[in-house]
Amino acid sequence: MIVSPSLLSADFGNLARDIEMINHSKAQMLHLDVMDGVFVPNISFGFPVIKYVQQLCKKPLDVHLMIVEPQKFVNQVRDCGAKIMNVHLEACNHLDRVVQQIHDAGMKAGVTINPATPVCLLRDIVEQLDLVLLMSVNPGFGGQKFIPNTLNKVRELKALLQEKGSKAVIEVDGGVNEVTGRQLADAGADILVAGNYVFKAEDPLKAIDTLVNL
Ligand code: DX5
Ligand code: ZN
Repeated sequence: MIVSPSLLSADFGNLARDIEMINHSKAQMLHLDVMDGVFVPNISFGFPVIKYVQQLCKKPLDVHLMIVEPQKFVNQVRDCGAKIMNVHLEACNHLDRVVQQIHDAGMKAGVTINPATPVCLLRDIVEQLDLVLLMSVNPGFGGQKFIPNTLNKVRELKALLQEKGSKAVIEVDGGVNEVTGRQLADAGADILVAGNYVFKAEDPLKAIDTLVNL
């Protein structure tokens, strides 16, 4: 399993130490949650922090934008060194164009959907995507409870990707632990995001290992 720890649950007073832990871990990416207080009812961090993280982190950055009008920030995300840029379907009036902009900027394009957004809305975009990010909690906060219907959505998305011949990978974000992670692996998820399960663990390296070995 590919694991993308979410820095949102890290100790912001010791970011360099926590990123060093990620560098020494088996995590294959690092997930960064950008929130604007409009698309979601919370504000996290922005570009100066991501630039700093990028300088210290040896793993590719997986940036999840929970913001309105993400198309305005494509080049800034690229300039921060992100490899993957995830935008919310619910935040884009012209999703196809945003995906093209992300590719033109040299990044992998991911589209994210909220728990109440059906997988079928991705039907006419999946061929263009490198990644689909399914939210398994309502975005805005770490440490929430996994929404079980996500398992059905993973299976439905897997079938849609196969039908359309899309090579997009399936990432799931929210409430991931060793139990829900196992269920997601069985349903067909490729990448698991985990915030609290990793950073609030007594032994974060071991928590990452557990998910990697699912
Ligand atoms: C929620 C964020 C998640 C969050 C996951 O809005 O997108 O990435 O950090 O945190 P956990 O794993 O604690 O649910
Ligand atoms: Zn996220």
